[in-house]
Amino acid sequence: MGKIKVLDEHIANQIAAGEVVERPASVVKELVENAIDAGATKVDVWAEEGGLSSIRVTDNGSGIAPEDCETAFYRHATSKISGGRDLFQITSLGFRGEALPSIASVSKVEVVTACGEDGAGRRLVVEGGTLKNNEDAPASRGTDFRVRELFYNTPARLKYMKTVQTELGHISDYMYRMALSHPEVAFTLRHNGNSLLQTLGGGDLLQVIAAVYGTTSAKAMLPLEGESLDFAVSGFVSLPDFTRSNRSAITTVVNGRYIRSHVLNQAIMRAYHTLLPVGRHPLVVLRLAMHPSLVDVNVHPAKLEVRFSKEAELTAFVEESIRAALSREVLIPKAVNQRVGRSNDTIVQEQFHFPKREGFLGELAAGLPQDKDVPVQGGYSLPPEPPADREPSAAVPGAPLAARPQDPAAADSAAAHGAAAAPAAIGRASCRGRV
Ligand SMILES: Nc1ncnc2c1ncn2[C@@H]1O[C@H](COP(=O)(O)OP(=O)(O)OP(=O)(O)O)[C@@H](O)[C@H]1O
Ligand SMILES: [Mg+2]
Repeated sequence: MGKIKVLDEHIANQIAAGEVVERPASVVKELVENAIDAGATKVDVWAEEGGLSSIRVTDNGSGIAPEDCETAFYRHATSKISGGRDLFQITSLGFRGEALPSIASVSKVEVVTACGEDGAGRRLVVEGGTLKNNEDAPASRGTDFRVRELFYNTPARLKYMKTVQTELGHISDYMYRMALSHPEVAFTLRHNGNSLLQTLGGGDLLQVIAAVYGTTSAKAMLPLEGESLDFAVSGFVSLPDFTRSNRSAITTVVNGRYIRSHVLNQAIMRAYHTLLPVGRHPLVVLRLAMHPSLVDVNVHPAKLEVRFSKEAELTAFVEESIRAALSREVLIPKAVNQRVGRSNDTIVQEQFHFPKREGFLGELAAGLPQDKDVPVQGGYSLPPEPPADREPSAAVPGAPLAARPQDPAAADSAAAHGAAAAPAAIGRASCRGRV
């Protein structure tokens, strides 16, 4: 008698959740990606206790049709692809139809959604993968997801969750990356009632950089623009004398998807070449666009890594584009002969100068709150910045818990070693240099 059985749907979902829902930040990631795929221009995220007690994501996107609400929680149910061919032409962030069933199998989910402005919507409750309620409910256009008690029915997984601070670090890091990837979307993130991020959604990437890293960092950025037959790039790269101690401030985005890419990181570092001091890293937001057939997004369970079919051409393009941006601003240090020494002017010493930059950075600086916690009308507020060349304290005003996002380098290695992630280090932490 055979021993092999097909597992039931519920267990299959829980197994899938093991890959898709690693921690609270994974839930935030999946729900925010769904919101963006739904065309939302405003996405608000609330988390309680590092997301372990509750996560709420609301959007003003297309909403889910009443007849689709239950289906959306089935495994491999998706509106984003319909056949095998589509898998090689993915233009959305989601495509597997796995996120909602995975999340719902390990938490208590409530969703209220509507497709129109007539106030008629639908409310669904799914707990531990079991549908508890599916009824008409008043709702405005968009979707409101609440995920409570994550891993309540998988105690083994719950046991592996880190401190509230660490989980919050992962959530805020992810939200910062999303904001940098989608400056056209207005994001907010609140934790236990404290506001950690607010972006305008006007499409101005430099404003998002200022909201995430602070105005000092934004003022140290150079615009990046480039195009080849296959690729287009835009974004910002930091002046070579404005560096950080790790690569946590490098954000690479491909067709609107934040990804981690060793090859792109290497290309970025090669572009700076000897301009950076040893062991220092730039602040970079690199937004790449290419035909979807040139990038395979179906290679990583959390969709955080991709495979490029023209990798060598792409990395050469990225390297060249960054180099061009740096040299456009005449940043290759110029040797300046300076007279020193005794009055006969015979001793000449070479010094290196990076030119001071005016122009759009001056304009930007004028439009941004400067180094104090001033809320801008309809905009964001910035905590005070620590003096340059000094490691700031861990506390961020308005965020009693460690509100800094996670250093992905540390997070990567921490995840790889099953250790607690290092204190988060994005934002203004570990920024050095002058502007
Ligand atoms: N916020 C939302 N607004 C509108 N539709 C949504 C939203 N969230 C989910 N949906 C619908 O529910 C479907 C299932 O969502 P789910 O996240 O499980 O799968 P997916 O996004 O298609 O793929 P992936 O598993 O890769 O995320 C989506 O395809 C989409 O049609
Ligand atoms: Mg999805």
